[in-house]
Amino acid sequence: MSISLPRWIAHRGGGKLAPENTLAGIRLAASLSYRAVEFDVMLSADGTPLLIHDETLERTTNGSGKVCETSDAVLFALDAGGGERIPRFAEAAALCRELGLLANVEIKPASGHEVATAEVVARMTADLWRGAEVPPLISSFSLAALEVARDLAPEVRRGVLFEKPPADWRTELRRLRAVALHCDADLLDDVVLAEARAHDIPVLCYTVNSEKQAKMLFARGVSALFTDRLDLFAH
Ligand code: G3P
Ligand code: MG
Repeated sequence: MSISLPRWIAHRGGGKLAPENTLAGIRLAASLSYRAVEFDVMLSADGTPLLIHDETLERTTNGSGKVCETSDAVLFALDAGGGERIPRFAEAAALCRELGLLANVEIKPASGHEVATAEVVARMTADLWRGAEVPPLISSFSLAALEVARDLAPEVRRGVLFEKPPADWRTELRRLRAVALHCDADLLDDVVLAEARAHDIPVLCYTVNSEKQAKMLFARGVSALFTDRLDLFAH
């Protein structure tokens, strides 16, 4: 089940050095020699997938209200920081392909929109990366979303996101035919790591912004880390 992964993944596009989940962030990651980026994908009220983390617009844009209740016309005119626009998922995919970056597409459905979001994102991921040299990796905290991805785009690799992996985490990975375990770096225990190692399952941890913690996690056998500190781990 082993898959090849860069050790470092830029979190939310460009971490904290650029506005999160923007094309500027993705470009910054590539310019600092990152080979992988993670970003969050949600649907607008018109059903268009776009990059944003929160269900509401206030924290990362100059807009307000719920993303899933806002039209494309309004969303794509907002400032997502430093004059950047909220990117459409298709734009982010094209940029990752152009830059040769591995994209970790996190399906981030608004509550109650898990299936609809996964249907759009999974199908589009398969289409947007068809024939790509660097295939993407879909992940989600929503197991319902991952089930949809498994059924609609089985060829796209999947990772299961847990804050803390439950005791039956491997059963879930098997059921979802997922190839990687993604979890909170602070909640990862050695029992889970030993089980992952024994079954050759890569473990990816978010969000690591200290050199000391990164060193310890790699020494414990973690495969890849998501970071906001692109400057600290530039390579
Ligand atoms: O995919 C890893 C990480 O992004 C999960 O947490 O809340 O930053 O999407 P969050
Ligand atoms: Mg994320």
